[in-house]
Amino acid sequence: MNQSARPRRLRTDGIRPLLSETDLEASDLIAPIFVDATTDERRPIETMPGHERVPVSAAAERVAEIRETGVEAVIVFGVPESKDDEGSRAWVEDGVVQKAVRKISRETDAYVITDVCLCEYTDHGHCGILEADARGEPTLTVDNDASLDVLARTAVSHAKAGADMVAPSAMMDGMVGAIREELDEAGHTEVPIMSYAAKYESAFYGPFRDAADGAPAFGDRRHYQMDPANAREAMREVELDVEEGADVLMVKPALPYLDIVRDVRERFDHPVAAYNVSGEYAMVHAASEQGWLDLEETAYESLLSIKRAGADLILTYFAEDLATHL
Ligand code: PBG
Repeated sequence: MNQSARPRRLRTDGIRPLLSETDLEASDLIAPIFVDATTDERRPIETMPGHERVPVSAAAERVAEIRETGVEAVIVFGVPESKDDEGSRAWVEDGVVQKAVRKISRETDAYVITDVCLCEYTDHGHCGILEADARGEPTLTVDNDASLDVLARTAVSHAKAGADMVAPSAMMDGMVGAIREELDEAGHTEVPIMSYAAKYESAFYGPFRDAADGAPAFGDRRHYQMDPANAREAMREVELDVEEGADVLMVKPALPYLDIVRDVRERFDHPVAAYNVSGEYAMVHAASEQGWLDLEETAYESLLSIKRAGADLILTYFAEDLATHL
């Protein structure tokens, strides 16, 4: 044994904080909230303990609770009063997100990000408009280019309602460029885009689809979300979003994809965000309910690891709970 090298010298309680390479702060976290136009009371989300769908009337109150913990930013998801084949409730002025964002930005000082997607708004649950076959019947395939226009319209309607940042998550090619162009044209040149740049077709979204009521009614998302087997492809995806004007680059999910977080960190100088998704949250909760894991310690270690891998920002359902302990 080499007697002189003793890394343990630097592991005493006194020196640990001085040498800590990674910090986790409340200001690194973005808390997701769900606003539901079909309810007039706050309803717990069964698959995501501690989270609720709240009516528009309680949206500002919900965000104020989050702000109390020290978390400064929220991302808003909406459940509309009705759905149709194009998802038209996604971009209307009196839509659930538009109404909620107006209230939140008027009544709180939170930084408001909106998720821009169609899956909660289409009756088929896909993230865009479906291609039609020769007879005009919808197929199982999302029409990429036809979806760009409505996604851009949705982003503009969010900015108009007062969103500080928009976060497109539909994984359509050219989506960031189309949104940037329409935002600029509408005068929202100062609204940044956080792109879900490398978003995988993941089983870890299960609990969210329950929370936001956005499960595909048929088919799957493999033809637009990324194959979990691929890492190099993620770099191409991210690069395109950078060229199209993305301001913040997101990887999603987080823990099973820390290699991608690290790759994006090393390749690009943009801020990197990681989405610690619903399944990552639900697993820790389920195990802690059994007494098999300590909830708070496991959550903290998860988020610390996501930062250590290279994320600057973390979207996480643990935001509120952890922030109160940081
Ligand atoms: C799409 C969207 C999804 C999530 C965020 N935005 C669902 C999906 O792609 O199926 C998942 C978030 C999570 O699981 O926590 N609008």
